[in-house]
Amino acid sequence: KRVGLLYGGKSAEHEVSLSTATAVSKAIDYDKYEVHPIFITLNGQWLRGPQLTKPVDSIEQLQFKRDNNSPNNITEFILDNNSQAEFDVVFPLLHGTNGEDGTVQGLLEVLNFPYVGNGVLASAAGMDKVTMKQLFSVAGLKQVPYIHFLRKEWNESSKEIIDKCEAELGWPMFVKPANLGSSVGISKATNSGELVKAIEIALQYDRKIIVEQGLTAREIEMGVLGNDDPRVSVAGEIKPMTDFYDYDSKYKDGSTALIIPAEISTDVESAMRDMAIRAFKILDCSGLVRSDFFVTANNEVYINEINTMPGFTPVSMYPLLWQHTDVSYPQLIDQLIELAIE
Ligand code: ADP
Ligand code: DAL
Ligand code: MG
Repeated sequence: KRVGLLYGGKSAEHEVSLSTATAVSKAIDYDKYEVHPIFITLNGQWLRGPQLTKPVDSIEQLQFKRDNNSPNNITEFILDNNSQAEFDVVFPLLHGTNGEDGTVQGLLEVLNFPYVGNGVLASAAGMDKVTMKQLFSVAGLKQVPYIHFLRKEWNESSKEIIDKCEAELGWPMFVKPANLGSSVGISKATNSGELVKAIEIALQYDRKIIVEQGLTAREIEMGVLGNDDPRVSVAGEIKPMTDFYDYDSKYKDGSTALIIPAEISTDVESAMRDMAIRAFKILDCSGLVRSDFFVTANNEVYINEINTMPGFTPVSMYPLLWQHTDVSYPQLIDQLIELAIE
């Protein structure tokens, strides 16, 4: 099968996508698949590289430079001269906006391409934390209290917004851009001065902001794999050494411990499994999702979020969760590709 690996992308998670693509290049079975890399630069240029026949050692090998022969039209990347598909399936290894949010999925849909993972609706709904939470609430999933607002509303009435946060949410608070991932633009605030600063930071990334009540809780994640009848993996706990699971503790400093399987009671585990499936279904997900939870000391389970294209980096939970369940990394790639074309 001819697989188009699509990675990079116009998003603050560009680097993470490169790391994900490197890890996939190491796990994919080259006897089974013809692997064609497509790199989207940070400013949105699409660049085709030579067919990959072995794992790459570093992300630099996946970052192609534009040459004069590079086509200008995006469709030229995926259609040959007779407008026939050049690939049997596209694997969008893109995180964040312009890739995990339904835009690329829509393009592939219009071009009639099978692709791995979530469709337009699930990707778009999963990218926007406000929409995601509204759907979770329809599904009856327990979540922390939050409020949300737009840049325009902040510019017009920041005082009222701070008052509303203080009235409705307890300290500490977490401030997040609605449309991002990998903790980019997220800060923790323990007083109103920090809250204002945190909102100003988040506004650099998005026009829509969400402020949540902070929980003191363990962070536990589960993988979901499948289409209409998905499976759930074992649970894994994240133990960052930092104040919270920020960008550096996710990818950079190597200090975060991943404990798989997580030490949780069977009641907590079954509550999480049930919530993971309900979250998957309410967003109409397909292929894969990682569901992230908070579990408090008295075993209350809150859903934090789902990720429709979870990281596949060497330090990422999703492939590790499946390895500890019963699916090796190469088998996971096979299954995701099969789910895309079934
Ligand atoms: P992202 O989509 O960028 O991963 P998250 O909503 O998962 O954003 O937040 C990133 C991290 O911030 C979480 O993994 C957790 O460590 C911390 N965090 C976020 N919201 C809360 C909260 N309400 N209470 C406690 N910690 C939180
Ligand atoms: N958004 C990143 C890639 C993750 O959650 O794994
Ligand atoms: Mg997260």
